[in-house]
Order: sequence, then structure tokens, then C-alpha cells
Amino acid sequence: MSQDFAGKVAVITGGASGIGLGIATEMAARGARVVIADIEADALASAAVTIGATGIQTDVTDQDSVQALADETVARMGRVDVVCNNAGIGPMAMIADMTPSDWRWIIDVNLYGVIHGIHAFLPKLRANADGGFILNTASIAGLAAGMPGLGAYCVTKFGVVALTECLRAELVMANSAIGAGVLLPGPVRSNIGKSKRNRPATLGDGALADVELDDVAEEFGRAIPWLSPQEAGRIAADGIRDRHLYVPTHPQMFDAVGARHDAIAAAFSR
Ligand SMILES: NC(=O)c1ccc[n+]([C@@H]2O[C@H](COP(=O)([O-])OP(=O)(O)OC[C@H]3O[C@@H](n4cnc5c(N)ncnc54)[C@H](O)[C@@H]3O)[C@@H](O)[C@H]2O)c1
Repeated sequence: MSQDFAGKVAVITGGASGIGLGIATEMAARGARVVIADIEADALASAAVTIGATGIQTDVTDQDSVQALADETVARMGRVDVVCNNAGIGPMAMIADMTPSDWRWIIDVNLYGVIHGIHAFLPKLRANADGGFILNTASIAGLAAGMPGLGAYCVTKFGVVALTECLRAELVMANSAIGAGVLLPGPVRSNIGKSKRNRPATLGDGALADVELDDVAEEFGRAIPWLSPQEAGRIAADGIRDRHLYVPTHPQMFDAVGARHDAIAAAFSR
């Protein structure tokens, strides 16, 4: 195993499960000292022991909680080099059925979670002479919308893509040594089909429902292979090492993105 990240400190939100745990495992194997942050205390504690990481309980919807994560990371590890704003949820509902609290929950976790991470960690990365890297987890659904039931999810993931593209442009403009990229996963075997376990009780129930990706396999295309979190973690770590802007996990899924771009190009040439 190459030691690409020897001496580096990496923080991964949503690091107790799925893709986040896959990224954390891979970064640790490549020499990084890893902090995983998650809202689920028990899963966090056991994941931290399993991969030899530091676990810090964090709610990414709360700016103060994410600021405390950033401050505690630097206090305990001395620095931070890589930040993966990855925590997210994937329940589905038709837009017409969405309640205000549904919108609040999904935007708070999937979009504000990333915004909070950027604001808390950018100043820490700026303290490094050699900068660092921010990898935000979006989805293929951040590049191609239109699937019934995924509207709210797509809203948040398009936002994460736009946020990352603009952040990267601003960092380049400032000649910063900090880079930014966006992870664009296709289907990965994780616990995303049980997202409602983390819906805050204060929001009450709504229309957003847990859906196993297996159940909507027709829309995703049956030929699309599922990745393990470890495979997704490897792709993410390579993307961070190579400082890529776009880090897709499924090259086979470009068709949906290309079809959208073709339709836009056709509209502009009418
Ligand atoms: N699994 C897929 O097929 C897939 C595809 C595309 C994108 N993604 C994205 O990957 C990311 C990780 O999801 P996953 O598939 O690994 O799901 P997962 O449920 O296995 O992991 C998500 C983690 O985020 C944590 N979390 C939820 N709310 C939180 C909060 N408020 N604060 C802190 N942590 C919180 C959960 O406890 C969990 O540990 C998400 O952003 C998701 O949208 C997943």
C-alpha cells in the first residue's frame, strides 16, 4: 500500500458508515491520521476502534458543532490537511408531497453540512504552508436530474457541485495551495437506504421515505455495478491525491450526464 498521505491529517464527516467509512479506511491505510465525525455515537465509536481513527461526534447541520470538530481536530492532531464533507442522507419523495420539514432536513444535512464544513475548515487549511484539499460528496444526481422522487436530493447535490466548482475557482484565483473537488458516486452499498434513522425528532415525520437503491434499480439501469464502500474510498483517495475537481466512481454512468448536456446544447442552438 502506497503511503500517499503519510504525515497528513484527514477529517471525514459521515465517517461511521458507508462511503465515509470507506474513505477513512483507505486514507488510514495510506498513512493519514484520520478523524471521523458522525452524528451516530455508537457506530462512530466502533468504526474508530476498527480503523484506528479518532472519533468526534458531530452534527453537520449545526455550524457550532462543525466548528467544534475543526477546533478539536487541530487541538488533538496539531493540523488538518484533508477535509471530506461527506455526511448525507438519501430518502425520497415526490416534490408535490414534500413538507417544509422534509426540505429543511435534507437541505440542512446535504447542503448546509458541506457549507458548514467549508467555513469551519478553510481557515485551518489556510494555516498550512502546503495548503490542503476539500472533497465534497455529491452524487451522479448532482449532474443529472429528472428521476421521480429524487427531486429534493438532486437540489442538494446540484448545490454541492456548484459550491465546489465556485470554491475551486476562487481558490485558483487567489493562488491558494488549497484545492477542492467533488465526489460523484453512483450506487455504493451503504446504509443510505436507512437514512431516516437520523431524522431529528424535532422535525416530526414527513413524506421523505427510505428507499433501497435496489428497489429503483430500473431507473439506475440494471447494468450499473454496485461498488463497495472500500472501492469508493479508493477512488476518493486517488482523487484527493491527484487533486481532481470531478471524482466520479462509475464511468459507465456518464450517459445520463451526457444526455442532459446534449439537451441543453440543442436548446441553445434552436
Ligand atoms: N450510497 C450511494 O449509493 C450514494 C450514491 C451517491 C452519493 N452518495 C452520498 O454519499 C454520502 C455518504 O452516504 P452513504 O451512502 O455512505 O450513506 P450512509 O448512511 O451509510 O452514511 C452516511 C453517514 O452520515 C451520517 N449522518 C447523517 N446525518 C448526519 C448529521 N446530521 N451529522 C453528521 N453525520 C450525519 C450517518 O450517521 C452515516 O454514518 C452521502 O452524501 C450520500 O448522499 C451515496
